[in-house]
Amino acid sequence: MNYLDNLNENQKKAVIHKEGPVLVMAGAGSGKTKVLTTRIVHLIEKGVPDYNVLAITFTNKAAAEMRSRVNNMIGDVSSFIGTFHSLGLRIIRENYEELNLNSNFTIIDSDDVLSIIKRILKDKNLDPKQYSPYYIRNRISFIKN
Ligand SMILES: Nc1ncnc2c1ncn2[C@@H]1O[C@H](COP(=O)(O)OP(=O)(O)OP(=O)(O)O)[C@@H](O)[C@H]1O
Ligand SMILES: [Mg+2]
Repeated sequence: MNYLDNLNENQKKAVIHKEGPVLVMAGAGSGKTKVLTTRIVHLIEKGVPDYNVLAITFTNKAAAEMRSRVNNMIGDVSSFIGTFHSLGLRIIRENYEELNLNSNFTIIDSDDVLSIIKRILKDKNLDPKQYSPYYIRNRISFIKN
């Protein structure tokens, strides 16, 4: 298992930890991503099917970095390595019928949301100065959260 060789003791502990969750808190550039990516490799080497590994990050850049480091160690894997948003999209795509959506549904961004709210205000002859589209967007978001 030469992929464990260039880890320090604490990194190794986190990588080979077995049952239950493990939390890694460490400073910038101290080797957190190395732990995560080596842990993915370790799980797969130990017999976990690669498609049962889920790795989520905040940014596309971090996800790409994780995927490329895993690829460098064991080649292509079918694990999901992506952002929270892309995972959400994947789940909705797989379950669009349960959600009463068409298979060709689209995701709207916050600018699209504003345009839709403005259109509704216009349809209803409501003054956007009195009913601020920004305020309505924030209220909807707040209520949904
Ligand atoms: N035990 C180690 N021995 C030698 N080099 C290491 C070790 N752990 C990590 N590195 C190297 O240190 C650099 C930073 O590691 P890594 O990217 O994993 O850190 P990070 O904590 O995720 O950083 P960031 O905070 O920027 O996300 C990389 O080049 C990595 O290969
Ligand atoms: Mg990192």
